[in-house]
This record gives sequence, structure tokens and C-alpha cells, in this order.
Amino acid sequence: MSPAATPKFKNPRAKYNFQGRSCSITGVGSYVPAKVLTNTDLEKMVDTSDEWITTRTGIKERRLAAQNEFTSDLAAQAAGRALQQAGLTAQQLDLIVVATITPDMPFPSTACLVQDKLGAHRAAAFDVQAACSGFIYGLEIAQQFIMSRTYDTVLVIGAEKLSSIVDWEDRNTCVLFGDGAGAAVLQNRPNAHGLLTAVMGADGQKADLLFMPGGGSRCPASAESVASRLHFLRMEGKETFKNAVQAMQTAAEEALRRCEIDISRIKCIIPHQANRRIIDAVVERLGARPEQLFVNLHRYGNTSAASVAIALDEAVASGRIHRGDLILLVVFGAGLTWGAAVIEW
Ligand SMILES: CC(C)(COP(=O)(O)OP(=O)(O)OC[C@H]1O[C@@H](n2cnc3c(N)ncnc32)[C@H](O)[C@@H]1OP(=O)(O)O)[C@@H](O)C(=O)NCCC(=O)NCCS
Repeated sequence: MSPAATPKFKNPRAKYNFQGRSCSITGVGSYVPAKVLTNTDLEKMVDTSDEWITTRTGIKERRLAAQNEFTSDLAAQAAGRALQQAGLTAQQLDLIVVATITPDMPFPSTACLVQDKLGAHRAAAFDVQAACSGFIYGLEIAQQFIMSRTYDTVLVIGAEKLSSIVDWEDRNTCVLFGDGAGAAVLQNRPNAHGLLTAVMGADGQKADLLFMPGGGSRCPASAESVASRLHFLRMEGKETFKNAVQAMQTAAEEALRRCEIDISRIKCIIPHQANRRIIDAVVERLGARPEQLFVNLHRYGNTSAASVAIALDEAVASGRIHRGDLILLVVFGAGLTWGAAVIEW
């Protein structure tokens, strides 16, 4: 067979949905707030050290939103940049999906607030809650609407103001998280494969590894709940770490298997940016080379649903990814949830 006739890869979408049309990312954007909180700053707040945080996590600094800057503001900024890159106006959007665990308020959805901020009056809007895995869940939702020809243009945003639910007196967690937003516009791009597959998984039996006990119907806000610090996130660090490595490896392998491609063909691996040691363990288990990896967690920490979205935008902006390259996104989060996506850029 001549090289030109060699199939590039198997597109699992083609197998499962012959009627469907492909779905590509036509624009990306991200936004992080201006305020930087360094490890040295944290040394003045809790009993920790730059050395401990750097060696255990790889994080050097994170961004914090201003008091009057909310998740919807971060999301709208990132979305505006993604729309600009796609060459679209907000009025052309059919659907806005916001992945977040830190909505501006329990309801209405942050997606509705973003719709208003953008002036995207035609668009339907809703939030997705899959914690740090939310952006990949959002991509798959967008893909389903585009593949079925229900919508042409979908905006997926991962946005978080995690500083609003972090217990700044708990050194076990407060050093890990930061604020930010990333966005992607999804459309059919003729003659492109786009999102080849998205794996999504969940295990609710492990919900208590990473959660926020207060603020929902189980424990509404009260003077007691606030006094007991129930409105801050809680985490079993070691167990979360082990589950993250296992789930990310499994999800990535499943995504690659579906496309019948070897990890060596991936130009850029963009993992959830939670901990450098988690990332390195996953990369080693996948048999990938370090130079395939994109990492920016030293600058932002873990921004949950925004994490891979910001990293994707920065990887594109830095020239790491070009049209036609295969990229692998792989995520893990509370729920537990996990996911992986293979995209022909
Ligand atoms: C949180 C995490 C960095 C801790 O690293 P670790 O190597 O597991 O550390 P340990 O839990 O063994 O803690 C070791 C010690 O450091 C201490 N410690 C915890 N946070 C600290 C901090 N910020 N500074 C200094 N010491 C700290 C602990 O109290 C413990 O002390 P002890 O041995 O006296 O009890 C790591 O478990 C992790 O990254 N887990 C996954 C978190 C994650 O990614 N969550 C989001 C998923 S989407």
C-alpha cells in the first residue's frame, strides 16, 4: 500500500454513527486573573514551605480572582477570546455549556450569566458538573449536538473561582488550587476529523474522597454549617492521588484503543494539571515520552474544570500544536469522574 493510501487512523465515530458529521475545535481562548499567589506568599498564611509544595506537587504559583470577579466573568473573558479566534460573533452561538464546581450561585446556571455577558441571545445555556473532568464532559456533549445536526456552533467553557471554596487555613488543600477559565468553540469543519473520541467515566462510590459537604440540600447554609467550615472543599489526598493515576491511565488507553493509534503518534498530551507527580506517573504508565507532554501547573495550580482548557489554549498559542496533529486530553476529578479525548487538531 502506498503511504498516501495508508489510513491515518480509525475514527471510532465513523464506526458508531455513519450519519454523523465531525466536530472540530475552531477556536480556543483562556483567561486567568491578574493576582498571583506564590508559594512564598502561602508560607505567610499556613505552615508550609515553597520546598514542600514544589517537591510534592510541582506548583510554584496560582492566580486568584478579585473579590468582585466571579466565575462567569472569567468564563466570559475566555469565551470572548475563543470566539475571536474562531472568527465568530456571540450571536452565532447555538449552545453554551459551562463546566464548573464554583458557579456564581447555585442557580441560575453560570452558563446563563455568561450568555448575557456575551450577548449570545440565540444560545441555549446550561452548566455541567463533573468537577475537574467537566471540560471533557462538555466537549462530548458539544460533539453529540453537532454530530446529530441539532446545533452548528457550541461554546464549551471550563471556569472556576476555586479560591471561593478553598479553606485558606487548611495546608493540605489550599496550596493546590487556583482560579481561571478556558474555552473552546466547536463546529463542523469540512474534511477534518476533529474530536475522534471522548471517554467519560464515573464512580460515585468514591464521592467522599473529594467533596464539599455544605451548601446543598443535604446541608444547607446555617450558622452551624459555617462555623463547622462545611462550605470548603475536603480531600483525602493520598487516596485521590492513587485513583487519579489509575483512572487517567485507563481512560487514555481506552481512547487510544478506540482510535487504534499508538501513544507514540500523539503530538501533544495535555493532562489535568493537578500534581506533577500524578502527571509523570500517568505518562510513564502510558509509555509516552516527556517531550509529548504539555504542563503549565507550576503557574496556575489545579484550576479544576478550567485546567485542560487553559493548557490547550496555551499549547496552541505556543506553537506546540498544528492543524492535523493528534492530541490527547486526559482528566480526573471529584465524583469520582475521569475522561480522555483524542482530537485531530
Ligand atoms: C495532597 C498531596 C500533594 C499530598 O502529598 P503526599 O505525598 O501524599 O503527602 P502526605 O499526605 O503523605 O502528607 C505528608 C505530610 O505533609 C504534611 N502536609 C500536607 N500539606 C502540607 C503543606 N502544604 N505543607 C507542608 N506539609 C504539608 C501532612 O500533614 C503530612 O504530615 P504528617 O506526615 O506529619 O501527617 C498529594 O496527596 C496529592 O497531590 N493528592 C492528589 C490531590 C489532587 O490532585 N486533588 C485533585 C484531584 S482533581
